[in-house]
Amino acid sequence: MKVQIAPSILSADFGKLNEEMAELEPFCELFHVDVMDGHFVPNITIGAPVVSCLNTRLPLDVHLMIENPEKYVEDFVKAGSDRIIVHSEACKDLRGVLQLIAKLGAKPAVSIKPKTPVSDIADVLDIVDEVLVMTVEPGFGGQSFMPDMVAKIGELKALGFKGDIGIDGGVNAETAKVCRDAGATVLVAGNYIFAADDLDGRIERIKSLR
Ligand code: DX5
Ligand code: ZN
Repeated sequence: MKVQIAPSILSADFGKLNEEMAELEPFCELFHVDVMDGHFVPNITIGAPVVSCLNTRLPLDVHLMIENPEKYVEDFVKAGSDRIIVHSEACKDLRGVLQLIAKLGAKPAVSIKPKTPVSDIADVLDIVDEVLVMTVEPGFGGQSFMPDMVAKIGELKALGFKGDIGIDGGVNAETAKVCRDAGATVLVAGNYIFAADDLDGRIERIKSLR
C-alpha cells in the first residue's frame, strides 16, 4: 500500500502557512495540523479560527492535543477538518467523542501517547478511520523518534484494524522506513521536511520518506 505523507505545519512559518502548503501540495497527500491547549500538552498553538483560514485542496488531519475535546470538535469540523484525531487520554467518553465527530461529518480518529497501550483503544477500533501512534511525547516538533513504539503498529494489525495507521514524531528517512516496513500508512513529518533550506530540499525530503 502506498504510504501517505502528511507534512506537519507546526514546523512551517506561521506567517505564511497557505504559501508553504501550496508549495508542497503537489508532493504530498494531506496536511497535519497540531492543535495544543497548554493543558493536555505544555505548549499552545492554534485554534479553529486559524484552521478555517487554511486554504488547500488536500485533506486536513487535525490532531487535537487538548483537554475536553468534545467541547471543541464542532468548531473544528466547521473550520474544515476532514479527519479529527482526539487523544484517548483526554476523553472521558472516547467512543462518544468519536461518534460525535462522525455525526458532525468528519472522519473520527484516535491518538495514543507513548505510555498508552494499544489495549486502551481496542474497543473503539471498529469506529475509527485512523489510529495515530505517537512516537514522541506530544507537545513539540523536532524530538527524537521512540523506536519502541513501532511494535504498536503490529499490535493494531493483530487486532484486525484495517484503517490508517499514522506515525507522529521524529519521522525522517531512516525512521520512515522502519514504520513503512511495519505497516504504517500515514507518516507525519514536521521538522524533517521544513528544516530543509529551500523548496527543492523539502521536496527531496518528502520523496525520501516514501
Ligand atoms: C508533536 C506533534 C507532531 C509534530 C511532529 O506533538 O503532534 O505532529 O509536529 O514534529 P516532528 O516531525 O518535527 O517530530
Ligand atoms: Zn501531531
